[in-house]
Amino acid sequence: MTLRDRWLALRDRLLSDPRFQSWAAAFPLTRPIARARASELFDLCGGFIYSQILLACVRLNLFEILADGPQSAAELAPSLSLTPDRAERLLEAAVALRLLQKRSSGRYGLGPHGAALLGNKGIAEMVEHHSILYEDLRDPLALLRGELGETALQRYWAYAGAGDPAAEAADRTTAYSDLMSASQAMVAEEVLAAYPLKRHRCLLDVGGGQGTFLRAVAKQAPELQLRLFDLPAVAAQAEEAFAADGLSDRAATFGGDFHRDALPQGADIISLVRILHDHDDAEALALLKTARAALPDHGTLLIAEPMAGTPGAAPSGAAYFGFYLLAMGSGRPRRPDELIAMLEAAGFGQTRLLSTRRPLIARVLVARPQVA
Ligand SMILES: C[S@@+](CC[C@H](N)C(=O)[O-])C[C@H]1O[C@@H](n2cnc3c(N)ncnc32)[C@H](O)[C@@H]1O
Repeated sequence: MTLRDRWLALRDRLLSDPRFQSWAAAFPLTRPIARARASELFDLCGGFIYSQILLACVRLNLFEILADGPQSAAELAPSLSLTPDRAERLLEAAVALRLLQKRSSGRYGLGPHGAALLGNKGIAEMVEHHSILYEDLRDPLALLRGELGETALQRYWAYAGAGDPAAEAADRTTAYSDLMSASQAMVAEEVLAAYPLKRHRCLLDVGGGQGTFLRAVAKQAPELQLRLFDLPAVAAQAEEAFAADGLSDRAATFGGDFHRDALPQGADIISLVRILHDHDDAEALALLKTARAALPDHGTLLIAEPMAGTPGAAPSGAAYFGFYLLAMGSGRPRRPDELIAMLEAAGFGQTRLLSTRRPLIARVLVARPQVA
């Protein structure tokens, strides 16, 4: 047992002792720490309730309504289809969660979180689709023990666990593709700020969904040729989106299964945006090797996704994505050093972890092929 182990064992005994708890809450020097800890623990216990209050606000379009100006509970009640006292109950809860804020004359306006949500439509869609995830999380032990059979989230992400993902029809891929598109703007912003793509000639975005990332890239790099590879039903949606944006002359789409098919050659940079974390280690490594085979020796691979062990965002990695991907049935959040080891095993070197402004949303790794 190390000195640290012994110290932590002593700390655990103290913190679990009710007499120590009351002493720490009363003693002036420990009181702020005791209060902060109690509040953190309460948040852990109440997290589901907070999420459902947020869901109620999202479903009622409350943030959009209040974007036009503050209103009282009585004024809001008819548009929320709630009685005034139930409207007030929700509004007070939302104020406590900083989604809303009290304004003059008893009115309610946007709070810091509500205003931020309004600027990121993707967050509201994420919140809405969590109801599927919560079905799988209702009994977390059954999920951990693999007793659920096919999960609700597996049905939602049709490629997860599908024997032949390339055969999935549009009606099974559209909902998740729409969700990804809605949340892609923030990711693209992070990637483009971290790694300018102008220096490249042709970018192949693997698992590129409806082309939302490439359409954002197209604005920053007007000379860049764009290629997208995804399941046939999804690639067809991207093709339509490129045509609608007038990009058909410089954007090409390829439908296939990246676990089985080779990727098209010719790009000098390949991106994997929010892809690797969806796949188990063997499949993720194989995909990196497939990408290596499609790149020229002077090419670049760019990986962008939320990663485990992100300083300041630890719960989003191990807790949120850890359990999200467990319910989805494949993949796991990986730390940058784990991805770097996989990249080396797949034939890449010169790996660099680039700094992103909001690492919670995405971290970015770039690597070059190792040339013998
Ligand atoms: C989590 S989404 C990410 C989409 C997009 N890159 C983004 O960040 O918005 C994963 C994407 O990989 C695609 N995908 C999953 N399995 C695939 C496979 N075996 N072959 C080709 N594409 C696949 C999905 O259709 C989906 O568009």
